[in-house]
Parts: sequence; structure tokens; C-alpha cells
Amino acid sequence: MDDRPIGMFDSGLGGLTVARALIDLLPGEDLVYVGDTARFPYGPRSLDEVRAFASQITREMVEEEGVKLVVVACNTATAAALEGLRYRFDVPLVGVIDPGVRALLSVTETGRVGVIGTVGTIGSGAYQRAVEARRSLTLSGRPVTLTCAACPGLVELVERGETQGDGALVLVERLLAPVREAGVDSLLLGCTHYPYLARIIGEVMGPGVVLVSSADETAFEVRGILSEAGLGRRTASAGSQRWISSGEAGAFVRLGHHLFGPELDQAEHWEPPVICRGEMP
Ligand code: DGL
Repeated sequence: MDDRPIGMFDSGLGGLTVARALIDLLPGEDLVYVGDTARFPYGPRSLDEVRAFASQITREMVEEEGVKLVVVACNTATAAALEGLRYRFDVPLVGVIDPGVRALLSVTETGRVGVIGTVGTIGSGAYQRAVEARRSLTLSGRPVTLTCAACPGLVELVERGETQGDGALVLVERLLAPVREAGVDSLLLGCTHYPYLARIIGEVMGPGVVLVSSADETAFEVRGILSEAGLGRRTASAGSQRWISSGEAGAFVRLGHHLFGPELDQAEHWEPPVICRGEMP
């Protein structure tokens, strides 16, 4: 048994969708969440830059916060950094891409599936590789045809709190055109911000398309690792949450409260040290 907290990070507030799933599944665990809002968004940045940010935050959580496991609750950071982080840090690291692909391939009936994400995530090819790693087959053995679409602008809508309205609808319609035309029967929301836009995305895709989020499957993976490694928290009391933002804490609480709910009522500020060019913190 291990009473240390679980660490989790995202470029901003999108990872709160994963935090919600984790808290619901493992209510007794303590959680430290870092939203890197000062350097948000990660999607348009180079993969090297995202790798450096992810490494810096993971180091902070492992060495200063003493976490027992880190959830990279950001597709862009998972695509850019997960493998490298596993090599550099001696705690279990869980990303959101493999759990998302598992969930996607378990729900499709036709094998025609779609993934939407940031420019960084889709451009990295990480989803294409994760599907290939499952030999491009659904759980029932059907061949998979994957259509990916980068959706610049959606994350910014969420971080502005504009999850409804005509402006959002027009943008979503335009960005989702490739996956609609491909006739997918299941669509993975390959960015942790997108579940907040699920209503509009569902409207645009139509009732025949299943929307899949990686949040629940990621939480299941964390539970599996904790139980296999004997790292679960000892006490049965409700776990606590600490919310940390590299940006302005007040703004994080205002929007976090709106997206996550009343439990997110205070946040701390963390100032990430400046990273020199080419340095891997
Ligand atoms: N929420 C992040 C993801 O899952 C990315 C948002 C951003 O561009 O920073 O990819």
C-alpha cells in the first residue's frame, strides 16, 4: 500500500476530464493536478518543446510532490513525450493514447473509425502507430480503416469557456468534414479538451456515430497498475485534490470551476523555471 498522491498534468484544463474519471473510479486516492496554462496551448508547438515541458512538470511532481504515478492527461504531451518520460523517471507513467485506441477499437462495428486531435498529436502519427500496433484490427478481428483530422481552434474554444453557440458549431462542422465524409461509426476525441465539446461534436456527427473519450479507459489503466503493483492508498477515507497552475491561479479556478464543478475551488501557482534552448529539464 502507498499513500503518496497520483500526479496528473495537461497543458491546461482539458485534463480535468481525465481527473474526473479518475476521482470517480478511485475516490480514495489523493491527486495533484498541474495545468500548464502559462504555456498553453501545446498543440501548435514543436514536439521537442512539448517534450521539455512534459519532462519539467514530471520532474517537479516526482521530486517535489513525491507522486507515485504520473498520468499524462494530454494527447499532445503523450504523443511527444511518453516514451522518453518512461525512460527518464522511475515511477509508472500512463498516457491517454493507448487507452483511447483500446476503447475506440472495442466499440466500432464497421471498423471505420476516426480520431480528432491537435495539430501536434495528429501530425506526430502517434494514433496511426497505436492502431497499427494492434495490427489494425478491431477487438472482433475486423480490419480497421482510420481517418484522422487535426482540429486547430477547438482547444481555444474550451479554454475560453465557449463550449456552445453558433461560432463553435460552424468551426466544428468545418473541421469534422473529413471524418464525416469517411463514414466513421466511432470517433475518438483524441484531445482531453474535446469531451467539453461533445454535445456539438455529437450534433455534427449525427446519432449513428459513437463518441469515445479516453478518460474512463485511462482511469481503468491507472487502477490496474496500482492494484498490480500494490500501490493503492491504504485508508478508506475520501482522497484530496490539489490543483496547480503555471498561469494565473484565479483564472484557472474560475474556468476550472465551470468545467469541472464546485470541488475545484482553489488553485496554487507554480512558476516553471525558464528552459534554455535545447535543454531537457
Ligand atoms: N489537451 C491537450 C491534448 O489532449 C492539448 C491542448 C493543447 O493544445 O494544449 O492534446
